[in-house]
Amino acid sequence: MKYLIANWKANKNLEEATAWVDVIVTKTVPTETLKIIICPPFPLIVPLMTKLNNRTDIALGSQDVSQFESGKHTGEVSAQSLRSLVKYTIVGHSERRQEFNETDETIGQKIIQAQKNRIEPILCIRNEADLVPQGIKMLVYEPVHSIGTGDNEDAAKVVELKGKLKLDPSTIFLYGGSVNKNDIDSYLSTSQIDGFLVGTASLDPNEFLSLIQKIL
Ligand code: PGA
Repeated sequence: MKYLIANWKANKNLEEATAWVDVIVTKTVPTETLKIIICPPFPLIVPLMTKLNNRTDIALGSQDVSQFESGKHTGEVSAQSLRSLVKYTIVGHSERRQEFNETDETIGQKIIQAQKNRIEPILCIRNEADLVPQGIKMLVYEPVHSIGTGDNEDAAKVVELKGKLKLDPSTIFLYGGSVNKNDIDSYLSTSQIDGFLVGTASLDPNEFLSLIQKIL
């Protein structure tokens, strides 16, 4: 099973998001070998959920989750609120670590909140120094120099980093950082990488479709 995650970041309105889903749904057939996870901005989760109703191969994730359980935290979106709306949540993306001062500690709290609410955390790490708490089932290696720059990390280096992490063999290990249709093959040639977290190349549905086609 391979995983392909679309991280839209702070992009798309309702109209653009539904048009994107229409393209993907009409041009793909459900498969057992690929799980697509769409991570839209929070307000688009519910309308997309309704649209994706009968596609079990396409799941929804949030791009973040609050470290707080509930209560007086204006603007936060808790795992309790997201429960039953998303199956996954990205946590610890380097943009959040950098722009919102997230630390291993706050990220650890987010992971606990997600797990308590049956949401699978997809933990992003920038390098081997970032903490990987016990029990993490999905991990993405995203070197900062590769995000949105076209400066991909070599597949061999990705595999080398994975080795250093000494992960449980059941951990789903993904790569992210300027993945596109021209460079995805090098990562697909190793069985060590279970999929991808895609930003830029996930915005245009036809570009994303070409990644799907490469994987299948
Ligand atoms: P990118 O973004 O594909 O544009 O490099 C990846 C990410 O930040 O998740």
